[in-house]
Amino acid sequence: MKKGKVCVFGSFNLDIVAGMSHFPQPGESVIARNSMMGAGGKGGNQAMAALRAGARVHYIGKVGRDDFGSFARRHLDNAGFDAVTLFSTAEYPTGNALIYVAGNDAQNMIAVDPGANLTVSDEEVEQCRPAIAAADLLLTQLENNLSAVEKVIAIATEAETYIVLNPAPFQKIPDALLAQIDLLTPNAHECTLLTGITVNDISSAQRAAEQLHLKGVKAVVVTLGAQGALLSASGQTELVPACPAQPKDNTGVRDAFNGALASQLAGGYSLLQAATFASAYAALCAEREGAAASMPTYLQALARLEAFKTVH
Ligand code: RIB
Repeated sequence: MKKGKVCVFGSFNLDIVAGMSHFPQPGESVIARNSMMGAGGKGGNQAMAALRAGARVHYIGKVGRDDFGSFARRHLDNAGFDAVTLFSTAEYPTGNALIYVAGNDAQNMIAVDPGANLTVSDEEVEQCRPAIAAADLLLTQLENNLSAVEKVIAIATEAETYIVLNPAPFQKIPDALLAQIDLLTPNAHECTLLTGITVNDISSAQRAAEQLHLKGVKAVVVTLGAQGALLSASGQTELVPACPAQPKDNTGVRDAFNGALASQLAGGYSLLQAATFASAYAALCAEREGAAASMPTYLQALARLEAFKTVH
């Protein structure tokens, strides 16, 4: 497989995760069955997924000059990225997320303090121009200040780097930004907020995707959980079935999907091939605890995909 070059601009958070039998009610203290601290943030998670799924990755992010920031630097320096550009500020803390995981389906509740992630300046983004221009694909999200996301995307547009935007967590984005996106990857909730169409099944996702195309988005992948992922591009739609999983922790599962998708697209695979692989990759991530630490390798995901295909 060709190792494509992926540039990921996005958040780094220090995640503190507690696994519990049920989510606490207001005023209730619940004894957790376990807890862990690890690397997270949608940008860092997606970069790790793209890397382990087979891409060469340049990660760009920003942290505080604090202990969590030192943790971030150690984690990122040891991950195996081609390059890391990590800006820092003494004025804001490193982003952090307090995460509860509970229930048979291992769903989560997350409180994020984005801290330094929201302070990326135009000058800092400008320093990243060569990295963005050198990549086959730019992957970014909405967990940073919108001004930085807009500038990163403007640079990628000028450089003709393929742009993937995962619009999570949702923030309002101008149509002018959407018009520059090659591939948008909302979930049902984000798709509803982006289009005003209530997305809860395949046909509503299809209608919402059509509206996003009218705004200039070239391709759309709507992730619909157990219903799979709807792909819409070049006047055609396809449904990629969800790969079944025995979930332990759903934190970072969509990041796994997005990172794996990006790695396969940058490696030259079609959108359908990339999304099919990403679905198996995300299933494996759900079966592991933690976010960045739970990203499987390319070969592990390939084995899961083959096993899934054999059964279906
Ligand atoms: O997408 C999962 C991530 O969202 C977590 O790692 C947490 O940091 C939050 O940003």
